[in-house]
Amino acid sequence: MEESRVDRCCCRNVLFCDLKQAAQKAGIPVERMADELGCGSACGLCMPYIRLMVRTGLTELPVIGSESYRRLTRESKPIRA
Ligand code: FES
Repeated sequence: MEESRVDRCCCRNVLFCDLKQAAQKAGIPVERMADELGCGSACGLCMPYIRLMVRTGLTELPVIGSESYRRLTRESKPIRA
């Protein structure tokens, strides 16, 4: 059975590889990605994956389990108030 991978902000249909390239090219920090690129600004479920992408450089990530998700979202500041 093939493992599911997360490779995009589904709400904005932005691939992480395109996001990474655009963010690197423009020098945009992860905290400003929502404003600058539109990702993470709807449901926000992609933000832990985007943070992992920034930390690891990977643009296709395994589905994060509920405990990992809670830990990552606790460690992450919300993008918008
Ligand atoms: S999946 Fe990125 S804002 Fe919803």
